[in-house]
Amino acid sequence: MSQSTIESILQEKRLFDPPTEFAKSARIKSMAEYQQLYDRAAADPQAFWAELAAQELHWFKPWDTVLDWRPPFAKWFVGGKINLSYNCLDRHLTTWRRNKAALIWEGEPGDTRTLTYAQLHREVCQIANVLKDLGVKKGDRVGIYMPMIPEAAIAMLACARIGAPHTVVFGGFSAEALRDRLVDAQAKLVITADGGFRKDKTVPLKEAVDQALVNNGAPSVENVLVVERTRQTIHMEPGRDHWWHARQAEASADCPAEPMDSEDMLFILYTSGTTGKPKGVVHTTGGYNLYAHITLKWALDIQDTDVYWCTADVGWITGHSYIVYGPLSNGATSLMYEGAPRPSNPGCFWDVVEKYGVNIFYTAPTAIRAFIKMGEHLPKARDLSSLRLLGTVGEPINPEAWMWYHEVIGGGRCPIVDTWWQTETGGFMITPLPGAIATKPGSATRPFPGILADVVDLDGNSVADNEGGYLVIKHPWPSMMRTVYGDDDRFRRTYWEHIPPQEGQYFYFAGDGARRDEDGYFWVMGRIDDVLTVAGHRLGTMEIESALVSHPAVAEAAVVGRKDEVKGEDVFAFVTLEGSYTPNTELKEALKQHVVKEIGALARPGEIRFADALPKTRSGKIIRRFLRNLASGEELVGDASTMEDQSVLEKLREGA
Ligand code: PRX
Repeated sequence: MSQSTIESILQEKRLFDPPTEFAKSARIKSMAEYQQLYDRAAADPQAFWAELAAQELHWFKPWDTVLDWRPPFAKWFVGGKINLSYNCLDRHLTTWRRNKAALIWEGEPGDTRTLTYAQLHREVCQIANVLKDLGVKKGDRVGIYMPMIPEAAIAMLACARIGAPHTVVFGGFSAEALRDRLVDAQAKLVITADGGFRKDKTVPLKEAVDQALVNNGAPSVENVLVVERTRQTIHMEPGRDHWWHARQAEASADCPAEPMDSEDMLFILYTSGTTGKPKGVVHTTGGYNLYAHITLKWALDIQDTDVYWCTADVGWITGHSYIVYGPLSNGATSLMYEGAPRPSNPGCFWDVVEKYGVNIFYTAPTAIRAFIKMGEHLPKARDLSSLRLLGTVGEPINPEAWMWYHEVIGGGRCPIVDTWWQTETGGFMITPLPGAIATKPGSATRPFPGILADVVDLDGNSVADNEGGYLVIKHPWPSMMRTVYGDDDRFRRTYWEHIPPQEGQYFYFAGDGARRDEDGYFWVMGRIDDVLTVAGHRLGTMEIESALVSHPAVAEAAVVGRKDEVKGEDVFAFVTLEGSYTPNTELKEALKQHVVKEIGALARPGEIRFADALPKTRSGKIIRRFLRNLASGEELVGDASTMEDQSVLEKLREGA
């Protein structure tokens, strides 16, 4: 975060009480009620979660042990049998919700579909049977590489139904990135579409799958199931590739949900860390189901009468927990939109809100900043009076954007729910409960009941109010990640060893810097590791550096974030070239394209600067701090005397 943003946040004193009318019918209605829940959960977390699990979910068999905690490995509801697809579908069919809209979908070209709970159940059962027919068994991993169409949710639910963990790969990732993930997860089958519509273009998804699988690139993959979406010409490999619609037409709609062990793996979702290789975050069934369910219910205050729209993609954790599993487990109506604001239709989001009477809207600060840039006239030309709650996620929200969201989109009447959480946490960790907790622009406010969050120093001591420190969680919670897929050691090192345990107290290290103010409000300041948040997408600097150095022209690369008005941060790369290459604009473009090919367009560097050498310490470590200063055109902060070669900085500055 830039210095000016930090200063504006430090000076932020505005307080917005929960609107009286809102609080009256909210799930959690007062600060006293929140405090009581929080205190009860803190005093006996296991009793708190057990009570909710019994009350909110269907279990085929109750658990024997609420929590088995062998740090850093947790097991929740041990011995319990449960199925997430059952909780999202079957249990609603015997109630009035049977014919309620489960998913409302609008495609970018304007085509629409509504699936009731009964209809969604039927399609999920059919696809679950298709997966079984194609040899997918309980425990087999399935890759999902899809546009934002109902079939993406159907695919996920079908996997959950038969106990095949899915790994959804965001459709914006390249063939190479897809292959890495399919190989790491040892996926047996891939579900994709011919293509997807995105900003008036088609995205060739099936072609990318073909590239990922070429030359036996992901040998575990035996079959590919293809949804027809864009009707573009694609190759169908005989024996390997199957049309979704043809298979579905032949499949039985009878497929009982498999009773899963509470701790059976539900999905793997890859996310960026501080090393070159993305890590497979493992989530399991029972605890995840409970946490996605209850956080949505209490923090976004979802009710039966709501149309709820989360603008994320299902390829991210936000889509998993808060487009598919959380809403459906609650029997809510979840809206899915394939499109994005684009030159031909910059007001499309507000058209969707007006057309469907959206009540709860959940998006990212980067989107809000883009809306501000596009102009107030777009939302003002639509009727947004149906909105009653606005949410945000993905990065710290600057108070100006918060105020604009509150005033222009929310008409001053909607609470703003700023949710801090991560792929690893599975659900909201620090968030207002909107009927209870007064909000401050830029603060995610307070921990969810049952979450023991703190801001500490590297010895694990709580820091004083308003002093910066590391954000940690001090007690296991039901939807915490269980491990890094296939790498328990990396799990331990990444999250549990930065702050060594003290007398049996373990600290989950989130990787974010934060402070807590005198009212107990948390202010998340951003990543303290080599992870960037670009337009709300999480990217590892090492990942982009590895992509760059895999190009023959590149000798060495260092990537840092540079402040960007809309994206929050942009990728800025410093590159030294191999002897025979000369710096020029074509090469710059070629390197940017190379990153797109290796990772995806989301990682495309905003700028590449060629250098003769990179600033390094005497022991050879790149001094990123200086590079960050250079990238933002700021004065250098810190002591340059530890540098091996002082002239390097001068040259880099001149290079600008
Ligand atoms: O740095 C924090 C930021 O996003 C990171 C998690 O990224 P990811 O796993 O991709 O999940 C994003 C969606 C949950 C965090 O470590 N972050 C997320 N939400 C917020 C945030 N930073 C500040 N405020 C938030 N509300």
